[in-house]
Amino acid sequence: MKQWYYIETMGCQMNKLDSELVENQLLDLGYQQTDDIKQAQVIIYNTCSVRQHAEDKVISKIGQLTRWHREQPEVVLAVIGCMAQRWGEELLDKYKQVDIVCGPGKLHRLSEMVQRARENRRDNRCAALDEAGEDECLERLDILPRKTNRVKPFQAFVRVMRGCNNYCSYCIVPYVRGPERSRPLENIVQEARRLIEEGVREITLLGQAVNKYRYISDGRTLGLADVLEAVHEINGLQRLRFVTSYPRNFDEKILQSMAHLEKVCPYLHIPAQSGSNRILRAMNRRYTVEKYLELIEKARSIVTGLTVAGDFIVGFPGETDEDFQATVDLMRKVRYKNCFIFRYSPRPGTQADDNLADDVPIEVKQQRNQDLLDLQNEISNEDNQQFIGQSVEVLVEGPSKNPHLNEKQASEQLENDQKKPVMQMVGRTGGDHIVVFKGPESQIGEIVNVKVNRASALTLFGEDIIGC
Ligand code: SAH
Ligand code: SF4
Ligand code: F3S
Repeated sequence: MKQWYYIETMGCQMNKLDSELVENQLLDLGYQQTDDIKQAQVIIYNTCSVRQHAEDKVISKIGQLTRWHREQPEVVLAVIGCMAQRWGEELLDKYKQVDIVCGPGKLHRLSEMVQRARENRRDNRCAALDEAGEDECLERLDILPRKTNRVKPFQAFVRVMRGCNNYCSYCIVPYVRGPERSRPLENIVQEARRLIEEGVREITLLGQAVNKYRYISDGRTLGLADVLEAVHEINGLQRLRFVTSYPRNFDEKILQSMAHLEKVCPYLHIPAQSGSNRILRAMNRRYTVEKYLELIEKARSIVTGLTVAGDFIVGFPGETDEDFQATVDLMRKVRYKNCFIFRYSPRPGTQADDNLADDVPIEVKQQRNQDLLDLQNEISNEDNQQFIGQSVEVLVEGPSKNPHLNEKQASEQLENDQKKPVMQMVGRTGGDHIVVFKGPESQIGEIVNVKVNRASALTLFGEDIIGC
């Protein structure tokens, strides 16, 4: 009889990668993936703790499974990832339907835990959690060969480091992901090479503060620039990206590598979090707005066509109208391609939650959030107009998710000269702009040139493909 697993992934790219590696283990055990939770013998929630809302969602999902789990004695529920690490055994104590709790640093043990729980769910409920300073998972999980079951087989994440030492005062990540540990360069290259041999064309290197990659090899300290150089050399790779950058001590060598390595995309995701020096200090970000702006200016002068993306937190404890105005000013000065904006959410155990009252009213947080979204929208819309009439290089990711467009296109398929299905496709430029255009499905995974004829804040629209 076929055995199925169902997995839902919340949170950041690190979690997406972890889910992929966990899926590998289940595929090795003979399970198959299903989107129908009721069909699954193993249900996995890969969770995030970064904001309260992310945890609330998981608790509600667990709640919804109470009856199902009681009625289906063979179904195993595993809660893994950052929230599993933060809650630990409490999840087992509080929710009888949870069988397995597994932190991000113990995921290589998941298949063994699943097997045991499947044999006897009630007696084998267990938690595997990271202890301080452990790096048991490093090179055990990441090094496993991957099955090519990714949604987009031509794109892959490769981790360059785990954890974070920055301890921004609001952030839970250092507590749930542990200290920074960089992977040996040769392992990163080996993994990238294997993925490229399997057909991957775009690799995104991952780290919580990816520019802090440090690895000592033969007495030499290697940094992210060395990783970029080494992965860039692999034949068959077409695009190389890295996220997320931390604005302090950003080594200029990385910018030089971006400038001279043609496969490295001119894109930096480098969150400022706030435009007020007072708030940045309280956030323990350890840079000033002036230093941040200097870095962005330098990056733009070295890397032609650089696009910059950011994150901001609004309503951090003590944030006044004046502080918020400073954030608005910073956004206007940088002119980001896009920004992720979050309302401050107190996280238990962090310095901000221990020492500062969450004193900005929810309505004020909401208004500031909306104001920043509106401003970013205006900036993106204005800046995107410059692409009209230009040809941009797009990695074709697949059909547009807007189904009515594709229904309409389907009727036009047969009118196409080559009798190839032409659909509304979506892809991205090296600078991470989303482009929608008409094209054949056969070009999924290819880089094509698209002439832009219309632009909105979120999307560039292309007339059609003008060459490959
Ligand atoms: N390592 C990355 C991202 C970490 S989490 C970095 O340092 O940039 C992703 C984003 O969530 C952060 O950039 C921050 O903007 C936001 N975030 C983190 N903790 C938060 C909190 N307690 N409340 C609201 N947003 C938070
Ligand atoms: Fe969190 Fe700061 Fe580390 Fe990013 S750099 S993960 S915001 S502690
Ligand atoms: Fe990522 Fe959320 Fe964990 S943002 S590192 S999944 S707390």
